[in-house]
Amino acid sequence: MNNEQRTGPNYFTFPQGFLWGSATSAHQVEGNNVRSDWWAWEQAGRVKEPSGLACDHYRRFAQDFDLAVELGHNAHRFSIEWARIEPEESQWDDEALAHYVEVVRALRARGLEPIVTLHHYTSPQWLARQGGWTNPKVVDRFARYTEKVVDALGEFVRYWVSINEPMVYVRMHYLQGVGPPGEKDFAQALRVIEHLIRAHAASYHVLHEACRGHDPQPLVGVAHLVPAFRPCRRWWPMDRWASGITDRIFNRALLDTITEGRWSVPGVATWNVPEAKATLDFLGVNFYGRQFIRWIPMPGQWPGVTCDLGHHPRQVPERTGLGWDVSPEAFFEVLVEYRRRLRLPLLVTENGTYMLDDARRWSFILRHVQAMARAIQAGAHVIGYCCWSLLDNFEWAEGFGPRFGIVEVDYATQQRLVRESGRCYAEICRSNRVLLDGA
Ligand code: FCB
Repeated sequence: MNNEQRTGPNYFTFPQGFLWGSATSAHQVEGNNVRSDWWAWEQAGRVKEPSGLACDHYRRFAQDFDLAVELGHNAHRFSIEWARIEPEESQWDDEALAHYVEVVRALRARGLEPIVTLHHYTSPQWLARQGGWTNPKVVDRFARYTEKVVDALGEFVRYWVSINEPMVYVRMHYLQGVGPPGEKDFAQALRVIEHLIRAHAASYHVLHEACRGHDPQPLVGVAHLVPAFRPCRRWWPMDRWASGITDRIFNRALLDTITEGRWSVPGVATWNVPEAKATLDFLGVNFYGRQFIRWIPMPGQWPGVTCDLGHHPRQVPERTGLGWDVSPEAFFEVLVEYRRRLRLPLLVTENGTYMLDDARRWSFILRHVQAMARAIQAGAHVIGYCCWSLLDNFEWAEGFGPRFGIVEVDYATQQRLVRESGRCYAEICRSNRVLLDGA
């Protein structure tokens, strides 16, 4: 390829300092997370297979970060395990805290910007015994935990994600019952959403207070799964209505509350959470595809948030190994739309896929990065992209079957093998640009 082509119009160069990396979460990679509610759930036989040693990342993190560097990354998103920091209520494990300080230092030493998530689906067992996220006390507990973490890590970390996918968390754990505590209770779910919002707000204030005077200031966001909701049957008015209301509830309820401090759908619910107003410095966007909404009459319940997902219309042309829709176009639309809605920077905290064929994984990543480039051209302010995931890992209720890694893990030997998709993605990370086909 000659020089002229390299600098030609078909390339999009990302803004200087753009964050390129991948993401993991503690429970999915660390191994032996014995104090968390997910561990207890697994031991009770509620999943296909238990997480066990997972990727043994708790011990192998330095080697894994070496791989991230080899793959051209300059950032890395990971999560802290609350159950390790506070294994029993008010008992703080200094060794565990020191471990995460070491993790963050290891990232910094390699030129990887840490993006730290405080809650990624798992909670300590002691909290679960107190009613978990249905108990209003969780808000203070979470604020205290944040304080401990920021005391230890604050000087090294700029990007914070308070809670990963609050709405998915509620859906999985309190409506579908596929994660602890396995509830299917709409009233409980509503309570949990409110507590997640209040906990986010409390942690936002703790982080800013603790880092007052830091230069640069911390940036705190949530990682929100932003599905593009679409009517299952486009011609059916009730599906169109249900898709709109689902967007309003699943996407807007959370975001309006943490930007405006208030959210309401007449006849459904109203939240006034003034302390949550303006508690978002950036939006973490997790994007996997569209979700198709089919209207099913469920008296007293909300569509989408409940269980009418997963009815893919026949016209969905491309699916992942888990049957999820693939739509880079919808990713473009989401980035442009959320920039317009929120006027905040967007950080893609997760995007990636499980495909049986790695070439298809690469095609997925490439087309989503191209869509992101076009969204930036169209005015979206995107500051980084984290591919899900650095490593194959424990995919919750699905177990180890679905492999999302750009690095393959042989669970028998814990050996890592970089996939071709990881090498191709490295090209983009290193050059900070992508070829836009058809441009
Ligand atoms: C996201 C979760 C992440 C992983 C991916 C595949 O919704 O945040 O932990 O399970 O899906």
